[in-house]
Amino acid sequence: MATTSSLLPLIRLQSKIYPSTSPSHRASLPSIEHKLVISGGRSISGHVAISGSKNSALAVLAGTLCCSSGTVALRGVPELLDTRTMAEVLRSVGARVEAEDGGVLVVDASNVWVTEPCSEKIGRIRAGFFVLGPLVARFGKAEVAMPGGCRIGLRPVDLYIKGLEALGAVAELREEKVCVYGANGKGLVGGSFHLTYPSVGATETFMMAASMADGVSVLTNAAMEPEVADLAKFLNACGACIEGAGTSTLVITGRKKLYGAEFTILPDRIEAGTFMAAAAITRSCISLSPVIPSHLTQMTEKLTEAGCKVTQIGSSALEVSAVPEVTGGKLQAFNIKTLPYPGFPTDLQAQCMALLTTCVGSSIIEESVFENRMHHVKELKKLGAEIKLSGNSAFIGGTKPERIALSGGRVRAADLRGGAALVLAGMAASGITEVENIAQIDRGYERFEEKLLSLGADIRRESEAAV
Ligand code: EPZ
Repeated sequence: MATTSSLLPLIRLQSKIYPSTSPSHRASLPSIEHKLVISGGRSISGHVAISGSKNSALAVLAGTLCCSSGTVALRGVPELLDTRTMAEVLRSVGARVEAEDGGVLVVDASNVWVTEPCSEKIGRIRAGFFVLGPLVARFGKAEVAMPGGCRIGLRPVDLYIKGLEALGAVAELREEKVCVYGANGKGLVGGSFHLTYPSVGATETFMMAASMADGVSVLTNAAMEPEVADLAKFLNACGACIEGAGTSTLVITGRKKLYGAEFTILPDRIEAGTFMAAAAITRSCISLSPVIPSHLTQMTEKLTEAGCKVTQIGSSALEVSAVPEVTGGKLQAFNIKTLPYPGFPTDLQAQCMALLTTCVGSSIIEESVFENRMHHVKELKKLGAEIKLSGNSAFIGGTKPERIALSGGRVRAADLRGGAALVLAGMAASGITEVENIAQIDRGYERFEEKLLSLGADIRRESEAAV
């Protein structure tokens, strides 16, 4: 194992350590492809139940590795390809993960002893990499393969590594694995770190690692996403001492041990925003709950600007109406620039682009978070959308009030949110739309077509020939 000094050039050399693109790291999705077949041009109505947040559940599942005694009982973990993969990652290091009645997922990490999780599973999802922090903080070492996940950019992990180095860790890249060791082969020590970019994953990794470091740690320019705050709430329930979650400065007082607790995952704001867009693009009225309205202000503002009526019902429900009686039969275009929270969420960019192809007037979407998150543009154009791409900006031509902008066709999901956007577009298009490769959607939306069916959409899942 190289010493710290000899590692630094390597780490500096690898300042942007990128996930692998080798086949072994390509997300291994089911061999039989499925597609969704949608008959568009129908309105929807009724109420949709929102599941627990995928991105909170994945981080909290990684956080369960911090608990060296007791069991964790999680409610609200959505049944997804990604949460199933994360459970397999935890099992690969010796944790017991079992679904119990009543939708409770029990994790017992007290007997974890392996510090090198299964590379194949880590290669399937980005969040697999989140186990690095807990493992090195608890055991003084960890070897984790480069992560997989949506191919929406290079998605380096340099900020994760630098954050751990600020806690006394030593890291090296060896055979596409990140090997991290605690100071002198032991655990981590408190330290301060400033994130050059408010990375969600890097914030969550630092938070989990610092929770068990010896001393006080401070993280500045931290990500403020609700899922980050949810992870802090979970870790504090397990005995951690994290202050400032949800703000850009975290102060974390390390604890020797964390213990199991009961916890409920917060509602998925991105799933909720996706269904809000579904109501708007089909010119319908639906209600959705549970939601945390303050987590959806960006989407609410944009849909209101377009002419929709968004009403809060009680403390945890919203109604979105885009019916002709409310909108006068047309929605106005609006512009978007994606930003870290509390800015407009990048995870709702694709869904809004689908909506904007049906609005009157032209619009601009600027994607500032990921450098390659426009795969859905070429697919939407197959359905008749007028979109020009220039770098990370999409210029969407409006539609004429008297004609439907989109017509059915065969399109392919390249990533999770882009796939959902194509389903929304198919719901608005005239005729039949087939969305292929929906395993991407199954990664992040629980019972997606079932929920849309219950709202009155004409949608069904079919299997493609074996690929
Ligand atoms: C999380 O990804 C979410 N995933 C993403 O959701 C979400 O889009 C993203 O945060 C932003 O909100 C999970 O929580 C599992 P980042 P993450 O680190 O943590 C760069 C979905 O659809 N960066 O905040 O990977 C990075 O390349 C998924 O549900 C570095 O440069 O996002 C990107 O350009 C997609 N170095 C930007 O920061 C690093 O070390 C934001 O990435 C880390 C990140």
